[in-house]
Amino acid sequence: MHSNGTQASVAPLKLCVIPGDGIGAEVVPAAVQVLQQVAPEVEIHSAEAGWACFQKHGTSLPESTLELARSCGAVLFGATQSPAYPVEGYFSPIVRLRKTLRAYANLRPTTWLPVPAARPGVDLLVVRENTEDLYIGREQTRDDGDTGVAEKVITREATERVARLAYQLAVRVGRRKVTIVHKANVLPQSDGLFRRVALEVAADFPQIETDELFVDTAAYWMVKDPSRYDVILTMNLYGDILSDMAAAWGGGLGLAPSVSLGDGIALAEPVHGSAPDIAGKGISNPTATMLSVAMLLRHYWDRADAAARIEHAVHRALDSGEYTIDIYTDGALGTNEFTSRIIDRL
Ligand code: NAI
Ligand code: MG
Repeated sequence: MHSNGTQASVAPLKLCVIPGDGIGAEVVPAAVQVLQQVAPEVEIHSAEAGWACFQKHGTSLPESTLELARSCGAVLFGATQSPAYPVEGYFSPIVRLRKTLRAYANLRPTTWLPVPAARPGVDLLVVRENTEDLYIGREQTRDDGDTGVAEKVITREATERVARLAYQLAVRVGRRKVTIVHKANVLPQSDGLFRRVALEVAADFPQIETDELFVDTAAYWMVKDPSRYDVILTMNLYGDILSDMAAAWGGGLGLAPSVSLGDGIALAEPVHGSAPDIAGKGISNPTATMLSVAMLLRHYWDRADAAARIEHAVHRALDSGEYTIDIYTDGALGTNEFTSRIIDRL
């Protein structure tokens, strides 16, 4: 990443594609077809990860997949299915991948799309710190057996790099306000540090308006009037929850994209999971994954033109009532048919 918050335009034009499990195997190929239309020069390399991979190779994230991801720099990840019971040796490949690649800032935009469930006027971006907070997994049960303890870690370094990225991005893409979300009144040592460091960074960007909210009030406003928000800058757990709330205003999980950025690294993934209830039927919505590819183009390859082509094609298809079944059941299109309609519009 350049110091101005953009990825180098010399970022290698290579993409490591990891479909994963369930509908990952449907939505990722659909999004790759779209990418090949707008940026045929990107080299595509496929790799395995997930539950099926674990059953086949005894690991959910083979070393070869990690190496390929590192050497490409850009990754498109579908979804993986994690068993709901403890399995010896199994770990969540996406959490490990984000951590190993040091993809420290997770960007989750919610923008109004022409579908029945979306809320007009919403155009916000959650920038979520992706490497620490309660998600470091330092959790234990005390000897009494009835006390669970989890450690929350917030550091100056991680806060500063995500805050700087959020403000640089706000400047670059023409956003006007950043809202810092925390609970520093209850957690002055951890959230208080996040707040202080974020405000220090904010001082370097006088052209961007800054305000702050306690996370409970932030949730209230997310329901009451999401158009209050422009960019939200927050910690891992609050960002996870607020961005899922925001996704509902965008029209649902089938439409919610994301990208995680690090130094010279970008990991694009839809917000949704492997959707085992509909997997294999060819009816999943590939839009979230296509829009995640658009985010890669804009934020990593510096190809805003190609990103906009994908976004416009998606807008126009939805505006014509071309929907998959999660958006509207009557006359719903399958994954492949919907994808063809997008490609026709590119
Ligand atoms: P989910 O996101 O897979 O599904 C929730 C509901 O939304 C389901 O009814 C599903 O059919 C629907 N849905 C999701 N994406 C859709 C799409 N693109 N098109 C149409 N409908 C869609 O979440 P759930 O059910 O909680 O988890 C299922 C599995 O996915 C679990 O094993 C979970 O661990 C995993 N998961 C993986 C994630 C990842 O790999 N990043 C993220 C979230 C869950
Ligand atoms: Mg989540």
